Amino acid sequence: MKSRLVLIKLGGSVITFKEKPLSANYTAINNISKILGILEIPLIIVHGGGSYGHYWSVKFDMHTKLQNYDPHGISVVHSSMLTLNNIILDAFEKHRLNPYGISPSSLLLNGRPSSNKILELKKMTKNNIIPVTYGDAVYIKNNKYSIMSGDVLMTMLSKILNPSKIIFAINVDGLYTNLRDKKIIKEIKIENNKTRKNKQMKINLRSNVNIDDVTGGIKRKIKEATKIAKMGNDVYFINGLVPLQIQNVVEDKKFKGTIFKGKI
Ligand code: IPE
Repeated sequence: MKSRLVLIKLGGSVITFKEKPLSANYTAINNISKILGILEIPLIIVHGGGSYGHYWSVKFDMHTKLQNYDPHGISVVHSSMLTLNNIILDAFEKHRLNPYGISPSSLLLNGRPSSNKILELKKMTKNNIIPVTYGDAVYIKNNKYSIMSGDVLMTMLSKILNPSKIIFAINVDGLYTNLRDKKIIKEIKIENNKTRKNKQMKINLRSNVNIDDVTGGIKRKIKEATKIAKMGNDVYFINGLVPLQIQNVVEDKKFKGTIFKGKI
């Protein structure tokens, strides 16, 4: 059964200025905090790395591939994510959202998602806490680490928590058909094991930004959204820089964006 829970990914391109190393977009974070304060629903937040985690991952040549990375790189990437997480927690705290930072490593056991730990997040929301986790360099096994994207975390959490709504807040209004006319694809129907071949599925990936970051940019988001929708959940892509869209989705109002319609 679906819960009332809403899962939101705040993309790195929303909460940071991606082109400027280690710069948080405080205005965007504050505007989002304000909107979240209005919503009366259990919430779990995942955030991306933007100009924090991605900046250092590139510098130390770290990616999603399981590898024996430079320990200094691992430490620096993780530390930068803690800094960004703290910036979000501070803003949420100011808006009395009761955030609680969760290191993604604590959701893994032997390098695999731990259902029990993940279920605890939902329990925390019952007591008005908002768990806030994030993409990070995570330990997997045998001294090997991987950059775990917040997008992958979204799939991991959705599988176990079955939220009522899953929202990716990105820095554009949705997925475009192409760059020229920037027409938003309103709906993408995902069927059981195959995606319905319709014109709308011809998403021109180049029409959406940041394809080439270490975790795969918009391509990764589409891949994860497709996986989630195949499990039967609707996934929304909206512009996090217009946080009213988050409220619109949560409150079942008309919204601007793209919905990946899950199989019922
Ligand atoms: C990246 O997380 C985390 C690190 C690089 C450490 P995401 O892949 O979810 O970040 P964004 O949203 O694309 O910036």
